[in-house]
Amino acid sequence: MTDFKEYTAAEKQAVSDINKCSSADELENIRVKYIGRQGLLKDLFSQMGKSPEKERPARGRELNRIKKKLTDLMEKRKSEFVSSCKKEDIFDPTLPPPLIERGKIHPVRKVLNEVENIFRSMGFGVAYGPDVETEYYNFTALNIPENHPARAMHDTFYVKGYKNTLLRTHTSPVQVRVMEKKKPPYKFIAPGRCYRRDTVDASHLPVFHQVEGLMVDCNVTFADLKGVLHLFAKRMFGSKVKTRFRPSFFPFTEPSAEMDISCGICKGKGCPSCSYKGWLEILGAGMVDPEVFSHCGVDSDKWQGFAFGMGIERIAMLKYDIHDLRLFIQNDLRFLKQF
Ligand code: DAH
Repeated sequence: MTDFKEYTAAEKQAVSDINKCSSADELENIRVKYIGRQGLLKDLFSQMGKSPEKERPARGRELNRIKKKLTDLMEKRKSEFVSSCKKEDIFDPTLPPPLIERGKIHPVRKVLNEVENIFRSMGFGVAYGPDVETEYYNFTALNIPENHPARAMHDTFYVKGYKNTLLRTHTSPVQVRVMEKKKPPYKFIAPGRCYRRDTVDASHLPVFHQVEGLMVDCNVTFADLKGVLHLFAKRMFGSKVKTRFRPSFFPFTEPSAEMDISCGICKGKGCPSCSYKGWLEILGAGMVDPEVFSHCGVDSDKWQGFAFGMGIERIAMLKYDIHDLRLFIQNDLRFLKQF
């Protein structure tokens, strides 16, 4: 009977080392020591050549049995270490990175940026005014009379405790603020938020955005107004769009007009999107009323100019054929992801 004492001692020692070890690193050292390429088992395998030839098969079988036993035992221990480890401690470089959802620019902001870019390219600057205004800037200086319905409590948010103070109902007061401070000529737009006491429905929100525009110089005419706004419409809605100007009334412009664009859906033939008119109103405009100039200390004999104002949500609705204003504020990703 062949004597495997030496093998058995090695086996016993290895099993005890494996059972005692307390970390994956320690286990790896044990693996190298016993079954690594220069480990103890390898030595025993090499020494086998010195033993009598007829013993060799039995020795080989025994060493292989020990090797398998140690390997299995180490695998088992290894998996215990891994499963006792906290999930976040395991770094697996083969996993794909966690999904990062990219945000998108809100459609109102997107259209606002486009409007700004178009006017900047025509040489307009950008001016800002406060959201909280006084009655003077929001109404009086713009030639909106004391008894105008827009001044009523049910149309405007007045700031409690502050006399004559309100949330601006349009961006037109920025015209006055700029003209008061600087001498003409002027060529700027004024984007921003506006507020009105409207009940929320598909076409009304109490908070919305407008872009105001003002161009004043020594000989600015209604032809300049038409040229600038027609070019704006083409850049915004595509080169095929048609524009038309209808006479209108605003207290701060004389004469006043509203600009329509041809309906992009039916191309002017008439469809539900344009209420079968073929045209869609997009902005109000006109030549600045001398009364407004006089409030700002601008000499209307020397300077003339035009002003315009448009609702950004409305432009976005026309551009993207959106039929309900409320979509802009509901934060529904199915809607927002489309832009
Ligand atoms: N402020 C007007 C409004 O909120 C819009 C407007 C119309 C502005 C004509 C203008 C203009 O500058 O000339 O309805």
